[in-house]
Amino acid sequence: MADRPLTLPGFAERKRDGIPLVMLTCYDALFARLLEAAAVDVLLVGDSLNEVLAGRASTLSATLDQMIYHAASVRRGATRTPIVVDLPFLSYQISAEEAIRNAGRVMAETDCHAVKLEGGMAMAPTVEALVTRGIPVVGHLGLTPQSLHALGGHRVQGRDPAVAEQMRRDATALQDAGASAIVLELVPQDLARDISGSLRIPTIGIGAGAGCDGQVLVLHDLLGLNEGFHPKFLRRYADLAATVKAAVATFGDDVRARRFPDDEHSFQ
Ligand code: KIV
Repeated sequence: MADRPLTLPGFAERKRDGIPLVMLTCYDALFARLLEAAAVDVLLVGDSLNEVLAGRASTLSATLDQMIYHAASVRRGATRTPIVVDLPFLSYQISAEEAIRNAGRVMAETDCHAVKLEGGMAMAPTVEALVTRGIPVVGHLGLTPQSLHALGGHRVQGRDPAVAEQMRRDATALQDAGASAIVLELVPQDLARDISGSLRIPTIGIGAGAGCDGQVLVLHDLLGLNEGFHPKFLRRYADLAATVKAAVATFGDDVRARRFPDDEHSFQ
């Protein structure tokens, strides 16, 4: 782990130095401690928590209070690592004023370091309003899950030349508005590489290929906890679903056979 903690302005330095940013989602203090110990650069309290933890069908149901609860938990577990918190659906789209109020709550109540919001040129004035009030912002382009239904599902974005051109303009608009980084989700790798090469700020890809300046995955997917989820972009680094099921089944067998607790795990 670097001696000097990474800061939001440090994201662009990392890009200049050619050092990829490692970002993972994190929703609680326990994993935050582990991820910080494993030298993850940035923790993302994603609104995906409502799908991953609460079993909801999309991110649209996440609320500001939920995001604040989880972000404050993550902050208690990770004391050095920058934490980015998703602004949930309708907490920033209605007006820049509401965005400032809601992002301000997130920052003040969680001690996080930045917020993330979805959208391009249309959100640039809001990004600028937040950044000029001292609230760092990470953008999010490509497949933007809060627009899942408008986009017709989890589909790669930017294969159509007109959509690709708009994404380039959106990325530049976010950078000009003061965004610290941009997440690119489900974007063809050549387009993501082009966009990354055209920006001073880093891109952080998920399903956007190796040309991005960093990579993010949903932690539970990387750990193999989300059994039914097999997108092309995901590499599983563990099979914790199998480990959990085997451990729990063995516990059940031991209890039923009266092997647990034994003397070693009992008080005299
Ligand atoms: O909510 C989330 O987890 C995200 C990542 C998929 C980038 O936005």
